[in-house]
Formats: sequence, structure tokens, C-alpha cells
Amino acid sequence: MPRYEIHGHAIISDNDCIAGPDGRMPDSLRNETDWNYFQLELDRAVLTVLGRGGHEAHPNSRGRRRLVVSSRVDGIEHRPDAWWWNPGQASLGEVLRIVAPEGGLIAVPGGRRVNDLFLSLGFDAFHLVRKRGVVIPKGVPVFTRVWVAGSAERLLASHGLHPATSRDLDPAARVSLTIWTR
Ligand SMILES: NC(=O)c1ccc[n+]([C@@H]2O[C@H](COP(=O)([O-])OP(=O)(O)OC[C@H]3O[C@@H](n4cnc5c(N)ncnc54)[C@H](OP(=O)(O)O)[C@@H]3O)[C@@H](O)[C@H]2O)c1
Repeated sequence: MPRYEIHGHAIISDNDCIAGPDGRMPDSLRNETDWNYFQLELDRAVLTVLGRGGHEAHPNSRGRRRLVVSSRVDGIEHRPDAWWWNPGQASLGEVLRIVAPEGGLIAVPGGRRVNDLFLSLGFDAFHLVRKRGVVIPKGVPVFTRVWVAGSAERLLASHGLHPATSRDLDPAARVSLTIWTR
């Protein structure tokens, strides 16, 4: 039986957003040190899972094995640009056994609805990066229920995750990382 470890990733604003009201990530949320850390984590993974929006916004220039979540596909399909998966028609176990039969680290960059899906399926870890001093009015939250819960941290805690390690990624830019684990 292959073993998988599922890690979520997000950089969020003070008000827990991953993107602006237009669905795009604003420059105010970008940080080079975070980006480099994120890329190294994706390089460690056997598979990257992201929503159709993120897939279309970020072409797979590094040629990583990619799984795109979409309701516009019949079950599981291998297309020239990526593997595609409709979670309403095939389970996570089914898709991973086909796409990454060797097992290993699965990186989940989101966005919001993909994060919701994996929060209910169960993250083994979530790499939560906060960029302090950035507020995105009417933005896209990291999880749909984050404001009801009070914060991303509270929502992760309510799903059985605990803050394991924290470090400043870029103190001058007030960017810090906390890895939440089960
Ligand atoms: N700050 C961060 O860390 C971070 C992280 C991720 C993304 N982003 C940014 O956020 C933006 C995109 O995020 P987003 O949340 O708007 O879009 P997204 O999650 O990338 O894509 C949304 C699409 O994915 C599909 N999808 C997601 N969950 C699904 C499910 N459970 N079942 C079926 N289909 C599902 C749907 O596609 P169909 O319409 O085909 O069904 C949906 O329209 C981009 O600008 C990206 O750069 C930021």
C-alpha cells in the first residue's frame, strides 16, 4: 500500500485572504523568500494539486506532476497539460493510486475550494505563511469558513492540527511561517 503525506500551503493577509476580489493574488501578498520556500516544497513533492483557476493562472513551466481539480472533467483524465480530477466522481484514494502510485509527499497549494476539500479529507500538515500589514478588502479567504471560525489558525486547530514549528521567513517584510501538523 503506498503511503501519502498531504501538505497544504498558503500565504495569507491579516484578514486571512489568499487573493483579491478579482480572484487574483495581489502584489502586496507576494514575497520572494516565501516563493522560494514554496518552490522548494513543491520540488520535494511527487504531486502538486491545485484548482482549475490556479492551474490556468500558473502554467506548469517547471514540468512538475500536476493534478487539477475541476467539475468539468469526467472522473480522472490524463490531458497533455496535467492530470485532471473531479472529486464528485472519483475518490482521493482512487486518483492518487493512478497518478502517484509510488506514494510520497502531496503538495496542495489551493485555492479556497481545494483547501476546503482537503480540510475535510484531512491535511497531514499545513504550511501557513502570514504577511503582516496586508489587508485585502472583499478578498478570497484561504478557507470558506475561516471568518466563521475566527482565523485560519482557529480553523486548522478545530480540524485537529497543532502549530509545530514557526519561523520568520522575511522579518523585514513581516512574513512568518507556521507549520501545523496532526
Ligand atoms: N495566497 C495563496 O497562497 C494562494 C494559494 C492558491 C491560490 N492563490 C490564488 O488564488 C487564485 C485562484 O484561487 P481560487 O480559489 O479563485 O481558484 P482555484 O481553487 O485555483 O480554482 C477554482 C476552480 O477549481 C475547481 N475546483 C476547486 N475545488 C473543487 C471541488 N471541490 N470540486 C470540483 N471543482 C473544484 C473549480 O473548477 P471548475 O470551474 O472547472 O469546476 C473551481 O472553479 C489565483 O489567483 C491564485 O494565484 C493564492
